Amino acid sequence: MSKRVLVSGGAGFIGSHVTVELIQAGYEVVVADDMSNCDLTCFEGVKKITGREDIPFVKMNFCDLDAVNRLFDGYRIDAVIHFAAFKAVGESVAEPIKYYTNNLSSFLNVLEAARTHGGCNVLFSSSATVYGEPEKLPVTEASPRQSATSPYGNTKQICEDILRDSVKAYPGLKGIALRYFNPIGAHPSALIGELPRGVPNNLVPFITQTAIGKRECLSIFGNDYPTEDGTCLRDYIDIVDLAKAHVYAVRRMLDGKMEQDYEIFNIGTGRPVSVLELVTTFEKVNHLKLNYKFAPRRAGDVTAIWADPTLANQKLGWKAERTVEETLSAAWAWEKRLAERAHE
Ligand code: UD1
Repeated sequence: MSKRVLVSGGAGFIGSHVTVELIQAGYEVVVADDMSNCDLTCFEGVKKITGREDIPFVKMNFCDLDAVNRLFDGYRIDAVIHFAAFKAVGESVAEPIKYYTNNLSSFLNVLEAARTHGGCNVLFSSSATVYGEPEKLPVTEASPRQSATSPYGNTKQICEDILRDSVKAYPGLKGIALRYFNPIGAHPSALIGELPRGVPNNLVPFITQTAIGKRECLSIFGNDYPTEDGTCLRDYIDIVDLAKAHVYAVRRMLDGKMEQDYEIFNIGTGRPVSVLELVTTFEKVNHLKLNYKFAPRRAGDVTAIWADPTLANQKLGWKAERTVEETLSAAWAWEKRLAERAHE
């Protein structure tokens, strides 16, 4: 019998790509989402890519413990991948209570339901934001976490700690935290991708929206950083590569291959790319010119961060495969597909 994975927040950007990879790897999936930050576009895309019209979808809010318990009563769940959380850094500074309430209580409810339903494997989607401005690069999982610079970042640290403490206390509960670097791109089918609401906060959706004419001009935040071209360095990880890492992590949990009950893995490429390099690569692979200007630094940005992904390479058997060129071409194909749809 196939194992069943619950994907909370499964209709969103990362969740939809992970759902595709899980199904293609032979897992049963239940998708649950409150639709607070997405519509059904990506879920419909997931059904098309996988050819599976029957993927169970539950519209629910994970802050409602009764609803989470009902979900676990209704399905035998072997593992949970928890994405359901708010993720806008700036908004979290303006509305910390909203962020702490939602991101912490939804995760606590998942753990409580997992615990009371016979134990379960829980994969938490964490972020490289927990490393802050690193003293040594690249960062390994043993690099120190720094005090969070935003309530959003703090919720990632707190949830990691909650998971670590919970697996210690409750036999049968196992946990993995994946620390993502900068997930970008879209599925090569152009049927699923990023759907930011309003003005995008992140770089790549801002680039593609500028290229399509939705935004007038991209501001590159800071060209006076102590890097070769003066712009920040990040580790941009292709969304399909990132999604595949979840399949390897779930398999490790379900096959009883974990070496500790709580494990952490960096999910990145190990390759630093500057903001300017990303912009010029986007122009080159997609044969266009992007309207951009240099603007002052953005508050809270770190100069440089990239992963040492050795642990994930060795223990999960996972490796980032797609090139930045392929990823940026997929991101552009998705933006064009969205524009075509808007005109239909
Ligand atoms: C942010 C979050 C991170 C989260 C990630 C993906 C922090 C500090 N960062 O990372 O936790 O996982 O988003 O959602 O919590 N840039 C521009 N112009 C723009 C937008 C961005 O120049 O219009 C630059 C930024 O200054 C930065 C780089 O592009 O140097 C990447 O920015 P962004 O995509 O927002 O990701 P991060 O801030 O690295």
